[in-house]
Amino acid sequence: MGAETFWNRMANRYAAAPIADENAYQTKLAATRRLLRPDMELFEFGCGTGSTALIHAAGVRHIRAIDFSERMIEIARSKAEKAGVTNIGFEVGAIESVDLAPESLDMVLGMSILHLLKDKQAAIARVFAALKPGGYFVTSTACLTEMMPAIRYIAPLGSFLGLLPHLDVMSQSQLRGAMEAAGFVVEHEWLPQKKAALFMIARKPQA
Ligand SMILES: C[S@@+](CC[C@H](N)C(=O)[O-])C[C@H]1O[C@@H](n2cnc3c(N)ncnc32)[C@H](O)[C@@H]1O
Repeated sequence: MGAETFWNRMANRYAAAPIADENAYQTKLAATRRLLRPDMELFEFGCGTGSTALIHAAGVRHIRAIDFSERMIEIARSKAEKAGVTNIGFEVGAIESVDLAPESLDMVLGMSILHLLKDKQAAIARVFAALKPGGYFVTSTACLTEMMPAIRYIAPLGSFLGLLPHLDVMSQSQLRGAMEAAGFVVEHEWLPQKKAALFMIARKPQA
């Protein structure tokens, strides 16, 4: 089963599920919001059903939000329509192949996505190239080495059986290292609790 199929099957349940830790989510939204300016162009990948983009849309000029699951994007578009939000372009697309103009973006959001990629380093490099100097890469990532040490034994079989998505079992320091290897400066990190996803704000240095 392809990864897109896994997420298409998950989409309705994902849209209906409550946020696991509402306080942590609100704190991440607030930290992101503090960086927003009305003239900003944002890009989000792995946007799911668009909840985060819909919240930030009022604070920026435009958001381009992609997800490779058609069903996720269908739900995101219908949520935007219901909410009357018109400055988000939701697109079906994969971070590995989407067209990204060099140095065109003020901020990129990658929430709960980097641990799902086969090659996070390549994705981080694409984001770095697409950001303007001084631009922000805001992420929240399950660093499974700390969160669920046993998952590294289960993940390959789970994903083979279609019960789990592909998982990159990484540590917090490996994620940090991947960001720095691409050229980012990690400006802010926050772990809401011991076994939670790591929130990070990384910045592309000014030229
Ligand atoms: C765990 S969900 C997170 C959704 C949303 N960002 C959130 O925080 O609720 C991961 C999403 O990433 C999408 N996804 C996974 N791999 C992707 C890829 N390579 N390119 C684009 N989207 C991808 C999935 O379809 C799914 O909607």
